[in-house]
Amino acid sequence: MQIAPEPAHTPESVTKGRAVYEKQNCAQCHGDRGTGDGPAAKTLADDWGNTILPFDLTKGHMKGGTSGADLYRVFMTGLNGTPMPSFVESIAPDEAWDLVHYIQSLSGRQTRSTQKVKP
Ligand code: HEC
Repeated sequence: MQIAPEPAHTPESVTKGRAVYEKQNCAQCHGDRGTGDGPAAKTLADDWGNTILPFDLTKGHMKGGTSGADLYRVFMTGLNGTPMPSFVESIAPDEAWDLVHYIQSLSGRQTRSTQKVKP
């Protein structure tokens, strides 16, 4: 899988990413707010039959790394052995970056550069 070049991280991109999140039903497992409490969350098991919980996306701490490209790779290729599916067939590259920006916004990352620093 090729990772497309990252477009600008704008509020519009975050809004579009939210739409992708809804359209692809990420919320079914990760919950409406990304906290990992979707309706399907309690029914999941990994390939070894162990209960597994969808990652809380608001923590901003990802097992597979925290860069935009790492996030991109996770949902495009999925996580082997876990119920985390691959979306490479259903998410276009530009939508994928919008989704990355949305996920980053859940952990407050996108606001950092615009936050006012106290004098
Ligand atoms: C069928 C349930 C399910 C759906 C649908 C789903 N996920 Fe996941 N996702 C999981 C599970 C379970 C994990 C945790 C895997 C683990 O702990 O190793 C996970 C993990 C993740 C992670 C973190 C991986 C890491 O580094 O730990 C990201 C990011 C993620 N999902 C994004 C998404 C996005 C974006 C969508 C929608 C396009 C989505 N997921 C749809 C079940 C799901």
